[in-house]
Amino acid sequence: MSRTIQRRQFVKASATIAAGSILPSLTQACSPNARLRTAHVGVGGMGGADLKSVSSHTGVEVAALCDVDANILKAAAATFPNARTFRDYREMISTLGDTIDAVVVSTPDHTHAPAAMTAMNHDKPVYCQKPLTHEVFEARQLRLIAQKKELVTQMGIQASAGLPYRRATQMIQGGVIGKVSRVLAWSYKNWGYDGPTFSSFDNVPASLDWNLWIGTAAMRPYKKGVYHQGTWRKQIDFGTGTLGDMGVHIFDTPYRALALTHPNWVRTSCRKPTGVGHPEKNVVEYEFPGTPYTTDTMRWTWYDGADAPPAMDGLGVPEGLKLPNQGALFVGEDGTMLLPHSSEPQLFPEDKFKSAARPDLEPRNHYHQWVDACMGTGKTSSPFGYAGPLTEALLLGVVANRFPGKKLMWNADNLNITNMPEANVLLKRTARDGFQIAGL
Ligand SMILES: NC(=O)c1ccc[n+]([C@@H]2O[C@H](COP(=O)([O-])OP(=O)(O)OC[C@H]3O[C@@H](n4cnc5c(N)ncnc54)[C@H](O)[C@@H]3O)[C@@H](O)[C@H]2O)c1
Repeated sequence: MSRTIQRRQFVKASATIAAGSILPSLTQACSPNARLRTAHVGVGGMGGADLKSVSSHTGVEVAALCDVDANILKAAAATFPNARTFRDYREMISTLGDTIDAVVVSTPDHTHAPAAMTAMNHDKPVYCQKPLTHEVFEARQLRLIAQKKELVTQMGIQASAGLPYRRATQMIQGGVIGKVSRVLAWSYKNWGYDGPTFSSFDNVPASLDWNLWIGTAAMRPYKKGVYHQGTWRKQIDFGTGTLGDMGVHIFDTPYRALALTHPNWVRTSCRKPTGVGHPEKNVVEYEFPGTPYTTDTMRWTWYDGADAPPAMDGLGVPEGLKLPNQGALFVGEDGTMLLPHSSEPQLFPEDKFKSAARPDLEPRNHYHQWVDACMGTGKTSSPFGYAGPLTEALLLGVVANRFPGKKLMWNADNLNITNMPEANVLLKRTARDGFQIAGL
């Protein structure tokens, strides 16, 4: 049996195990020396951290690196001299075919779905950074193709593997504060831009392929410091603002612990849309249908930028408590849980919960969990089956930012905002000519 065929077998079969089917041992399907050959799209910024974390697994061989910035690509290639290098992920995936086993996507948000869908169209398991996609429709499509092809997937929310978030999830599901009626969540960060359209432009740096960086979005002139690197987060065509950026980390635990599904409605309070950037401060309200861990309905409110953290009078938090600058508050029938971002949960009233049990948990490596699942052992904790609906919910809030004060009624089955047809056009991007990807 060729090594490539062995690899294909274990990757496909591991997904079936993750889906709960009974299968023969996968480790029997591949030789003890078989390694997972990974291809990485976007290797600067968080992509560099992803590359380091994935490749720290002894079962991984980094086979290919792709970046639209030649300087960034060169720096990554210095650490992995045997990896093939590419500027265009489409070329990398089609050229390398079955000589790669799995793909890591760490680009700006607007390129997540195009790159991940291209990989999955080629039957590759995918690790994709958060938020899963830039558009609501894309999140639905990635979930569906992963499910249909039974591919191992993981979204990059490494904090979800941390002990505080997992402990909080178990405590909430164990009923420590009773059924939850409200969640408040917040981040002080400002990934918004309230300024005007840009009127002066800069030369594209020689190292950057601007056409490939823009990808599926509409072409525009380059401006230093606005897009590449990192600052694209503030722009509506490329990032998802603070809600999509930090909200996905901070709302992950409430979403998971309360087993939430699709919201009934979402409404935002922010400045009028400018057509350029996401709002610099934002309050977004959601109502979710009830679950076994909530009251009949559950209200979530998000605050970011200068609106965070919110006032918490009457919610069970001790007066004068210094609030973390990012975190979540669960309001239950029997008490309140404060969950600072990536720190241990605190329960109020303190006296009542002095002896509340705190589950003892084993550390978990979120990246290695994906590699192991690709190689047939275990399953991932944030597969697209989970990450898709979580991302859809967050991105509906991003859409609502374009209609401040309006309640957007959501029909998840039909992927449709029922009361505002004008908002539905924002659920899906029409890709630029030459960048259409099958399935999106
Ligand atoms: N999980 C986390 O804690 C965490 C932290 C930071 C960023 N992120 C996520 O990681 C992603 C990247 O964020 P960042 O801050 O590193 O951005 P960045 O702009 O600093 O880096 C993006 C990298 O991707 C490259 N790139 C851009 N378009 C590309 C394309 N079409 N093909 C190949 N390479 C391309 C860029 O050249 C750059 O090297 C985002 O989705 C962000 O939300 C996650």
